Amino acid sequence: MYKPIQITKDIFYIGVNDRTKHLFENLWPLPQGVSYNAYLIVDEKTALIDTVDLCYSDVYFQKITSVIGSKPVDYLIVNHMEPDHSGSIARLISKFPNIRIVGNKRTLEMLKGFYGIGGDNVLLIQDMEELSLGSCTLRFYLTPMVHWPETMMTYIPERKTLFSGDAFGTFGTLDGGVLDRQLVPERYRDEMIRYYSNIVGKFGSPVQTALKKLSDIEIDTICSTHGPVWTQKKYIEEVLNLYDRLSRYEAEPGLVIAYGSMYGHTEQLAEIIATSAAEQGLKKIVIHNVSKSHESDILRDVFAYRGLIIGSPTYNNKLYPAVESLISALQGRNLKNRFFGYFGSFSWSDATAKQLSAFAEASDFEVVAGPVVMKQAMLQDVAEKARNMGHAMAKRLLTVAEVVPGIVEN
Ligand code: FEO
Repeated sequence: MYKPIQITKDIFYIGVNDRTKHLFENLWPLPQGVSYNAYLIVDEKTALIDTVDLCYSDVYFQKITSVIGSKPVDYLIVNHMEPDHSGSIARLISKFPNIRIVGNKRTLEMLKGFYGIGGDNVLLIQDMEELSLGSCTLRFYLTPMVHWPETMMTYIPERKTLFSGDAFGTFGTLDGGVLDRQLVPERYRDEMIRYYSNIVGKFGSPVQTALKKLSDIEIDTICSTHGPVWTQKKYIEEVLNLYDRLSRYEAEPGLVIAYGSMYGHTEQLAEIIATSAAEQGLKKIVIHNVSKSHESDILRDVFAYRGLIIGSPTYNNKLYPAVESLISALQGRNLKNRFFGYFGSFSWSDATAKQLSAFAEASDFEVVAGPVVMKQAMLQDVAEKARNMGHAMAKRLLTVAEVVPGIVEN
């Protein structure tokens, strides 16, 4: 039924598209779906790279059959044990009882824990160990915490192909084409940043370690577990560069203003700050009402832009709950290297300034202007302070000439 999708003469794409699930990890919206990518290498020995979410295992098996018919599979390489990739392993063993499942020490612990698999079915490999399939060699690079502790990548030197696990992945299904040259890569730019910031964003330091480890290998093809297969030099350089910069928390000179507001007072301050920043010539400004924008979109923009201003009313003598949630998400991702400002409003007792100040200090942000705090309603001097904050932030951002290259500049 399925026609084999060839990447190189001996590497096939056997992944699937999920247009059913609303939330990835039951948390992150999937407006354009997601693909679970898996691959099959056909050599003297055959090897699968990862499986797919259990819900799609029938499609996965049909795609394997479309390439090798009724022949058995010799190896399954498990680059990542999260169930969106490992979910079909138990069924795979039923289908191919003699298959060897290849992983590192942490992988094998998880195989046992999740699926009760061990014994003769598993093959333990070490960092940088190689496994020959015939004309292709699989070399395993352990890359812990990109995104789980057992995460590894598999490289075929003869094909200069890297199976990178979640790294360089993106939300969004593969609608027809699978390789970058068969589709419009621009479609995936924002979703790659949202994927990184939501799923991998906490692990900037392990991503840097992995990138350094891979820095001396030649890469002609990147086969990630989500999104397009990268084969064109331009896009390979761009996704590598994007990961390098995002994992160092570098960002382009734009501004995110994220605010909570019950009755519109804090929102007034957000508007004044944004207008004043725009008057200074800053064009990349995004305002998020935290009660309406999904947190995953706010995280995407915060990772993309270097300027961050957060506003909150005082609520139960604390930050507004959705602002508190955002702060927690940013702290959980170790966000660094931001120009920062904060503002708030209160009716009888202010609690926001102190807490947002503590957040800035703990994150080592550069605070570009003093806090702007409104009591009950707008006064001229408060509006003036808000304008000054917008000016100061725009000026600071426009003095840095950094640009984060996305998959494609736009
Ligand atoms: Fe796509 Fe970390 O799993």
